[in-house]
Amino acid sequence: MRNLNWLMLLLALLLVSCSQKQQQLSEEDQFVEDLLAKMTLAEKVGQLNQYTSRWEMTGPAPKDNAGAQDLLEQLKAGSVGSMLNVNGAEATRKAQQTVVENSRLGIPLIFGYDVIHGYKTMFPIPLAEAASWNPELARLSSEVAAKEAAVSGINWTFAPMVDVGRDARWGRVMEGAGEDPYLGSAFAKARVEGFQGDDLGNEFTIAACAKHFAGYAFSESGRDYNSVEIGNETLHNIVLPPFKATVEGNVATFMNGFNTINGLPVTASGYLQRDLLKGEWNFDGFVVSDWNSIGEIETHGAAADLKESAERAIKGGSDMDMEARAYINHLEELVIEGKVDEELITEAARRILRIKYRLGLFEDPYRYCNVENEKSMMYTDEHKAAARKVARESMVLLKNDNQILPLSSETKRIAVVGPLANDKDSPLGNWRAKAVSHSAVSLLEGVKAAVGSSTKIKYAEGCQLSIGPRNFTDRMIFNESDRSGFRAAVKAARQSDVVLLAIGEDCYQSGEGRSMTDITLKGLQQELFDEIYKVNKNIVVVLMTGRPVAIPEIAEKATAILETWHSGTEGGHAIADVLFGKYNPSGKLPVTFPRNVGQCPIFYNYKNTGRPTGQTDAWVLYSCYNDAPNSPQYPFGYGLSYTQFDYSDITLDKNTITKDGKINVSVSVSNSGSVDGEEVVQLYIQDIAATYARPVKELKGFEKVMIKAGETKTISFELTEKELGYYFPCGKYVVEPGQFKVFVGGNSVDVKQAQFVMQ
Ligand code: BGC
Repeated sequence: MRNLNWLMLLLALLLVSCSQKQQQLSEEDQFVEDLLAKMTLAEKVGQLNQYTSRWEMTGPAPKDNAGAQDLLEQLKAGSVGSMLNVNGAEATRKAQQTVVENSRLGIPLIFGYDVIHGYKTMFPIPLAEAASWNPELARLSSEVAAKEAAVSGINWTFAPMVDVGRDARWGRVMEGAGEDPYLGSAFAKARVEGFQGDDLGNEFTIAACAKHFAGYAFSESGRDYNSVEIGNETLHNIVLPPFKATVEGNVATFMNGFNTINGLPVTASGYLQRDLLKGEWNFDGFVVSDWNSIGEIETHGAAADLKESAERAIKGGSDMDMEARAYINHLEELVIEGKVDEELITEAARRILRIKYRLGLFEDPYRYCNVENEKSMMYTDEHKAAARKVARESMVLLKNDNQILPLSSETKRIAVVGPLANDKDSPLGNWRAKAVSHSAVSLLEGVKAAVGSSTKIKYAEGCQLSIGPRNFTDRMIFNESDRSGFRAAVKAARQSDVVLLAIGEDCYQSGEGRSMTDITLKGLQQELFDEIYKVNKNIVVVLMTGRPVAIPEIAEKATAILETWHSGTEGGHAIADVLFGKYNPSGKLPVTFPRNVGQCPIFYNYKNTGRPTGQTDAWVLYSCYNDAPNSPQYPFGYGLSYTQFDYSDITLDKNTITKDGKINVSVSVSNSGSVDGEEVVQLYIQDIAATYARPVKELKGFEKVMIKAGETKTISFELTEKELGYYFPCGKYVVEPGQFKVFVGGNSVDVKQAQFVMQ
């Protein structure tokens, strides 16, 4: 009886809290509907219009620039709903004031910015963070980035980029979580939660934006902005899952892309934006276009002019126009002509106002512009410590012959050599928001801080990597001829016990518009390696890249290789932590490293084909290259540790399951080495016979565990229909009975295997 009373009380409490929630929701709806009712068509269109900053908002609008003056007038008239690239508490406050105090309804602006992997404190690039296989770190870095951005007046980041990237030629692989939809989904969700926290209205959180919806990373030949031709099976199983995960994580906004899919510009895709995102997935935030992607509908050849582009975009479900001026110039006219239903514009405005409401901007439009906080909460020691923690966990040990690493801090003579060895800028990565140029800790600085006074460090640059412009927009020019620094580098190497050779990519070699047809090391870096190799074989390559690179000779000859990526503000310290064993590396590749560019795109979850390899090397009539193996240089999921992990065989709790059942998969993992270490235990499946051929392996679970030296841990995974089904090309999720293989291991190749049946 007493239990029953408790139950009733619990039920009553639940009902009260539900109805409170409903009331909250309806308060939001009420507010937005009341506001919409007051708005003219022009004011609604204004909300859909987003401009970039054209001058320092705190200074006067330049008189001689008609465009800028015009912008000021538009702000006052309420014709702008959002701005991007306005930075700083003072500048955002000024712009906000202009709108709030002058426009008829005083609807606040929402300020967007590309806060991709940090605001002022730079974290490793997103690809690197994914190499940690620890989504909690992405949550942490996003939380810190959000805080620094929020106190500078930013309400909204254009991140995370959740495009699954399979092609190393595409420069924007640095911005995503790699090639796998399962790992990508985990990181996508964590990033959204990190940026947004559990309350968008909190002054230290910002709205996130899942981009680029969808398929952008599948540009033909890895050339940025190129057309995308993919089948619906790939769309649903590979491209869309991380986007869906962000909706499950309550992401506030989406951004569409520059690309077409099978001829249709995604910015105009009613299927993606209306049917799927806002329909089936129930997304209630808004979709912003990519920069002028509405204007580019015309350039693609899918609209006759900007006006038709506007019509196609609004009908397709793009709510906000970033910089195309298509909506502000044409939507009213399209409504008057009866070509566009006004309700579409009201609906888009509703979605935008809703997010502004959730951000608390109507309550206090200046909530996010706090000059005091901006000073005290920026680039703090705590933030830098977080950046170092994330960076060291993101690094992947690719090779470690003779256990040359970790180095003893007592090592007598260390040569720190290479174009990136004392580079304080590249570690900041591309998409570096408000990072101060050349502010990262370089490898040289990190090593110097890590060693004792008895160690002699000899530094030599060896060669410059680039001799041309280094910025966001200009094409770099690589150094192909100046070898004047070789001599000093070779000398330093000859006089040392070990050489730390920092090579790889400048940070402006990856990122938007940075596609490459050659993914080997640029300039004279290979030559520098070869010269050093002649005098000292103890080369530890510290590889700093924003993408997978092809380094076949280095992979063969270097004694050790540590992939550090572009590792952020604290990069040099984090690298030293790993090199000297203060941190035992635990990163695993979130992307496959090809042997050469001809293998691109290369990824682990390929399909078997009717003529798989593995028969005889002499026989060409199977799916293979005649001049290189099919296998990559380093597979997905790969990464070494300073200790050794041994896997037991797989134990299944049953051999047969039903469609709605579950199966438990477990292994024991022993640390048989002499130091403690973390291992990323990975689970893959293969649906052996399905209606549509399934990949040879698909990641369906992972767990990062700390295992002490000598210790054994049992790791268990549960598989249900959530992991065992897949999408038919029509978009329907189907679970098909039959045989499944299950694999568990420390990377996608070296695995234990078992099999079960679904009835
Ligand atoms: C990029 C987006 C970015 C936008 C705003 C575009 O060129 O594709 O990812 O958010 O610019 O800076």
